[in-house]
Amino acid sequence: MNGPIGMFDSGFGGLTVARAMIDLLPGEDLVYIGDTGRYPYGSKPLGDVRDFATEITRSLVDDYGAKAIVVACNTATAAGLDDVRDELSARDVPVIDVITPGVKALVSTTTTGRVGVIGTVGTVSSGAYPQAIARTGIPVSLTSAACPGFVEFVERGQTTGDEVTVLAERLLAPLVKADVDALLLGCTHYPFLARTIGEVMGHGVTLVSSADETAFAVRRRLGEAGLLRSGDNRGVHRFASSGDIDVFRDLGGRLLGPELEHTESWPPHR
Ligand code: DGL
Repeated sequence: MNGPIGMFDSGFGGLTVARAMIDLLPGEDLVYIGDTGRYPYGSKPLGDVRDFATEITRSLVDDYGAKAIVVACNTATAAGLDDVRDELSARDVPVIDVITPGVKALVSTTTTGRVGVIGTVGTVSSGAYPQAIARTGIPVSLTSAACPGFVEFVERGQTTGDEVTVLAERLLAPLVKADVDALLLGCTHYPFLARTIGEVMGHGVTLVSSADETAFAVRRRLGEAGLLRSGDNRGVHRFASSGDIDVFRDLGGRLLGPELEHTESWPPHR
């Protein structure tokens, strides 16, 4: 099947998922939209984020011919996954989110049953994580915390340093106090801060990112739907941004790697 996999985030965060997908599925074409013109999503009303998510999804299918959609953003998943699925219900385009795979990885990582989730204000206030954990049927004790400010550091390219550490110490204190042994990075931007987060949480805590598990979920869903590409040609990777495309190319290239050497404007026909 020839169409690309379409994916999106409010900005650079979904690149953590893109990295895992490019590594696991090197033959697949990819179109990534970073909505940097309207970021951050995490502090916006969930209704606005839902509208952004359905608009971008429509564009990925109509303008780029996407054969599957990966919502590479926890906030957009929490706000609008059902709407994104409704948008595509008549079109046979699978939708994969980051919350379900992340929770699966989290509950299989913990040994003490005390787990943590950190995310944006929108994600944490939506209750999407407690609901997804309840659906696993695995009894764990969950401590969640919103981490406003983390996303802004990543979008500025500031992934380490004293300022990041001071904020992390303050925001992660409830998780340290709850003595969790596994912490899910419930925002796709956060793996870029993993060194600082890991240092603050301490050695006994395993950081869980949804990126790898999501890439496996994508491979599984495409396989089931008969949409996986065969052969060993290399995929084409396109990146688009609703904000400054030069900034997106420069910082995105630093964060993702050499595959991001060119950025287009989104929407494509403005
Ligand atoms: N990366 C997004 C997420 O996973 C949110 C970032 C934002 O607040 O814009 O939730």
